[in-house]
Amino acid sequence: MVHRNVLLDDRGGIDIGSNVSISDYANVYSHTHDIYDIHKVYTPTTKIGDGVRLTYHSTVLAGVKIGNNAMVGTGAVVTRDVEANHIVLGIPAKTAKVKATQAD
Ligand SMILES: CC(C)(COP(=O)(O)OP(=O)(O)OC[C@H]1O[C@@H](n2cnc3c(N)ncnc32)[C@H](O)[C@@H]1OP(=O)(O)O)[C@@H](O)C(=O)NCCC(=O)NCCS
Repeated sequence: MVHRNVLLDDRGGIDIGSNVSISDYANVYSHTHDIYDIHKVYTPTTKIGDGVRLTYHSTVLAGVKIGNNAMVGTGAVVTRDVEANHIVLGIPAKTAKVKATQAD
């Protein structure tokens, strides 16, 4: 489900799995510019796995891959890949907790 005022930047493409929740004011990017040459644009695909929850005001940068059932806390900025079932918080987003799975 995609909630209100969500920004989905499809320039490089965003793969969104099933049962994903993208909350209010979340931003998902798929393009970025070279830090020296603004005309050099990179368009890596961003991947949001099945069951992922991007909570409100979180941001996912271009090319990041978020593993299944992971959760991004409010206001976090995700700059690196997130492992499945991890809950990440902060800027840059880091794992704060790992969800228990049925196998645990
Ligand atoms: C991910 C989230 C659920 C964390 O919940 P939690 O694991 O139960 O965390 P807690 O509330 O127990 O807090 C644990 C610690 O993390 C901190 N924390 C909680 N959320 C945080 C956030 N978004 N960013 C940074 N730190 C955060 C707390 O201050 C606390 O720190 P402390 O131990 O120093 O006191 C919460 O951050 C969040 O994003 N909630 C959004 C709710 C939601 O689902 N929104 C979408 C609705 S459509």
